[in-house]
Amino acid sequence: MKFFVDTADTAAIAELAELGMVDGVTTNPSLILKSGRDILEVTREICALIPGPVSAEVVATEAAAMIAEGRKLAKIAPNIAVKVPLTWDGLKACKTLSDEGSMVNVTLCFSANQALIAAKAGATFISPFVGRLDDINLDGMELIADIRTIYDNYDFKTQILAASIRSVNHVTEAARIGADVATVPPGVLKALADHPLTEKGLATFLADWKKTGQKIL
Ligand code: E4P
Repeated sequence: MKFFVDTADTAAIAELAELGMVDGVTTNPSLILKSGRDILEVTREICALIPGPVSAEVVATEAAAMIAEGRKLAKIAPNIAVKVPLTWDGLKACKTLSDEGSMVNVTLCFSANQALIAAKAGATFISPFVGRLDDINLDGMELIADIRTIYDNYDFKTQILAASIRSVNHVTEAARIGADVATVPPGVLKALADHPLTEKGLATFLADWKKTGQKIL
């Protein structure tokens, strides 16, 4: 499974990139707001840090304006994936932009049917929002599983990008189901390394090592 990091915080991206764990980045208008940065400037910086797909979201709501914004975003760097919302206008923009050779990430997906038509519109990525479904007492992972089945049934090449990931368990489940990508906030990505038995075991080993009186270096 590929990991995208779900942030517009360039320091956090750079830190994780050093470990070779970041296959791409996703941003959205809320994350741009949180960064306090200019969208074009920060997106350009992110694209220089990470060679993989960097999603930048349009904010127009009509197809023609979305296409114009998408073209402008796509000019930032060759690794831009233009993010469009899963509306009828968004699907029109997806078709045009993907026909022009841009990567397109269709976002705000909450149903299997939405994912099906996004694939037919040529989406490179479909972003089902797991956490936001869980928030309203629905099962976000069931949606990931349904999309996996449907895409495999028809050999769609659109990649399932599990989004709105809120916990390490979401990552495990998305990987178990076979999501192609999980976009993960930096804190959750770092927490994947944590286990209380690792900490406990390490404390014991270090205490015993001290008693040996030895040194390696
Ligand atoms: C990423 O592409 C999405 O915009 C993001 O994962 C949404 O996450 P949230 O539901 O935690 O805001």
